[in-house]
Amino acid sequence: MTTRVLVTGGCGFIGSCFVRLLIDEESDVEVMNLDALTYAGNPRNVEAVAGSPRYRFEHGDIRDEALVARLVEGADWVVNFAAESHVDRSTSERAGEFIETNVLGAYVVLEMTRRHAPGARFLQVGTDEVYGDVAWPGFPDEQAPLHPSSPYSAAKAGADHVALAFARTHGLDVIVSRCTNNYGAYQYPEKMIPLFVTNALADEPLPLYDGGTQVRDWLRVEDHCRALLLLLRRGASGEVYNIGANQDPEVPNKDLTAMILEACGKPASLIRPVEGLRPGHDQRYAVDTAKIRALGWSPRLDLSDGIAETVAWYRERRDWWEPIKSGEYRKFYEELYGSGS
Ligand SMILES: NC(=O)c1ccc[n+]([C@@H]2O[C@H](COP(=O)([O-])OP(=O)(O)OC[C@H]3O[C@@H](n4cnc5c(N)ncnc54)[C@H](O)[C@@H]3O)[C@@H](O)[C@H]2O)c1
Repeated sequence: MTTRVLVTGGCGFIGSCFVRLLIDEESDVEVMNLDALTYAGNPRNVEAVAGSPRYRFEHGDIRDEALVARLVEGADWVVNFAAESHVDRSTSERAGEFIETNVLGAYVVLEMTRRHAPGARFLQVGTDEVYGDVAWPGFPDEQAPLHPSSPYSAAKAGADHVALAFARTHGLDVIVSRCTNNYGAYQYPEKMIPLFVTNALADEPLPLYDGGTQVRDWLRVEDHCRALLLLLRRGASGEVYNIGANQDPEVPNKDLTAMILEACGKPASLIRPVEGLRPGHDQRYAVDTAKIRALGWSPRLDLSDGIAETVAWYRERRDWWEPIKSGEYRKFYEELYGSGS
């Protein structure tokens, strides 16, 4: 039997990986991709599957009730990736778009699902950043209190709460995932790994904040998407699931930077230390992933292999990232890091 899936934000980094996974590997799945094509949404991310008869695209906004009502009709699964996703934009600019899309938008997709596809399973794609700064040796499980530090993570926490309230209040079949930082192909080069990889490949400086002491639990995007598919199939309704690599030992940003430079074959002299803490940025993220691992999930690639694979992709696909690193991107980059970078 065919499974009909409404994916929102499927032209972004993670959503497009999920769409490609569904079309390439799940022959009984049909995908409707709703995406507003903001600066972060790129139709080229899904061009490999765009010709499939099982794939359809709709250009539009998740806040558009009538549109979402029409698209959600008949869906078996609804997967909400659509979001404003960059922490630095949420702290350096007005955060209204983050609240609008990440909270109100999530609400609209939930409400339209409740009204027009009440039997559908709804997966709210969330982030571990909702737990805030996690002091070593903490590994928050899904019951841990939320302490979001940036407008981005606060808005994502809001969406988690609204989604879980729809499960409780309306009996909607909701699952919330909370994943650690992702990396891989097609990631917009404002995020740390593609920023550093593409700067290194272009012999430009790598702006490393605060001595590179901050710790993220980097997970390959394909591993994240396989975890989401598993949750849609086997997750328990009304539950939250953490997803993370549990890097051991943990990898501070300075070690990650060294790994990237090695994979790019570039010298450490490219590192440009940036003093001071960034507002809204946490020192360490880590999560307890026992719950999703009990469903049979584990990441497939370790970090150094994943970074080598990712660098190889960016080396090959200059046609994808070089046009992005101009225009609006350049303006934002210079505001954040200065024009000397
Ligand atoms: N990147 C990470 O490391 C990470 C980790 C955990 C969770 N997440 C979550 O996963 C989701 C996807 O993240 P990403 O890194 O792929 O983000 P992204 O910024 O690459 O993509 C977001 C996509 O959403 C679309 N979009 C934005 N506003 C929209 C709106 N109002 N209506 C319809 N579409 C809209 C954009 O056009 C874009 O295609 C987000 O919800 C994010 O919070 C990301």
